Amino acid sequence: MQISLARQVALVTGASSGIGHGAARALAAAGAAVVINYNRQAEPAEALARRIVADGGQAIAIGADVSNEEDVERLFQQTLDAFGTLDILVANSGLQKDAAAVDLSLADWNEVIGVNLTGQFLCARAALRIFNRQGVREGVSRAAGKIIHMSSVHQRIPWAGHVNYAASKGGVDQLMQTLAQEVSQQRIRVNGIAPGAIRTAINKDTTEGDAGQALLKLIPYGRIGDVEDVANAVVFLASDASDYIVGTTLFIDGGMSLYPEFRGNG
Ligand code: BGC
Repeated sequence: MQISLARQVALVTGASSGIGHGAARALAAAGAAVVINYNRQAEPAEALARRIVADGGQAIAIGADVSNEEDVERLFQQTLDAFGTLDILVANSGLQKDAAAVDLSLADWNEVIGVNLTGQFLCARAALRIFNRQGVREGVSRAAGKIIHMSSVHQRIPWAGHVNYAASKGGVDQLMQTLAQEVSQQRIRVNGIAPGAIRTAINKDTTEGDAGQALLKLIPYGRIGDVEDVANAVVFLASDASDYIVGTTLFIDGGMSLYPEFRGNG
């Protein structure tokens, strides 16, 4: 199976670090022109764009807050201005604001739902409007467009102390499936990815040392994931190699969602 995304344009939200950063790199390596969206961290997003261009690819960085409707409209307009089209959306932006439910402020509830769920809706809506206008681009892809929603194992696994995050990802699951049901007749493919514990710069505290050892007990496959584990799946779901995959979530979690605590118990 050879994957090429040549002549396709991909927009990755939240791509200044972590999984989004890795996904943008992998999509560019597969030949797509890439829009690297960031909210606050312009420098790493611009550095990634420069690196992709230096390697012979096409990329630009665009700042936008995905929870803000005007920002999202501008982000997609600037994408069209830069590259003329859009074929792939990776709705990846997400954040955590952790607290026990009794202590969780409404502001932190709203912020997490705003970015993780409403942000994915706003970006998907903007992408769908473009895909509907352009239809299938013959010789480029069998689909009129592909949307990949970045979810989490916590769309399925309840997570004490993270009720805003778990609720947002449960919402992403239904957002993804409902959109898939609604738009697949227009040859638009909508799917999700549910990563488990992935080693990134911002979760060092939970993936290293004693916390990392404790985390490993929850991962039957016995290792913490790397950004590339998820990025490879993004490229696959964005490509025609997955053309018959519609409305599915790919769990990339080393088996975390298999409830390993139940081995020998229950
Ligand atoms: C969270 C990580 C966590 C993982 C497994 C992810 O969605 O972002 O912080 O380690 O789920 O619990």
